[in-house]
Amino acid sequence: ASTIEINLKPVAEGQAITVLWRGKPLFIRRRTEKEIQTARSVPLKDLLDPQTDQDRFKTHPQWLVVVGVCTHLGCVPLGQKPTDNKGEYGGWLCPCHGSEYDISGRVRRGPAPRNLEVPPYTFLNDTTIRVG
Ligand code: FES
Repeated sequence: ASTIEINLKPVAEGQAITVLWRGKPLFIRRRTEKEIQTARSVPLKDLLDPQTDQDRFKTHPQWLVVVGVCTHLGCVPLGQKPTDNKGEYGGWLCPCHGSEYDISGRVRRGPAPRNLEVPPYTFLNDTTIRVG
């Protein structure tokens, strides 16, 4: 479906889920307070595609919602499973050519040129989002 509703209630802090949206994996992660602080403390000058975490996740910063498709050539980055190698920046690591993303889904090491895309979404209530 082009629009989906996702129940976030079962997702515990520090956990991640993947759902399919428009044929693409959607990465959802319930970030810890520490992860949010880490994401928000990175100076813009350190970023390849400068964007603040606040601009990416304007409300409900605990919830990270991104399209799980590497912006280099479209592989699905690793990092959703607890046992995955998340890379040096604690987010995701693309297995194809080694791009790394931080806990805001921002690219920190190329060849990927851009941050993981934040899809359009709204909170219907505190534990339900509609994407699309
Ligand atoms: Fe991800 Fe190339 S597709 S680094």
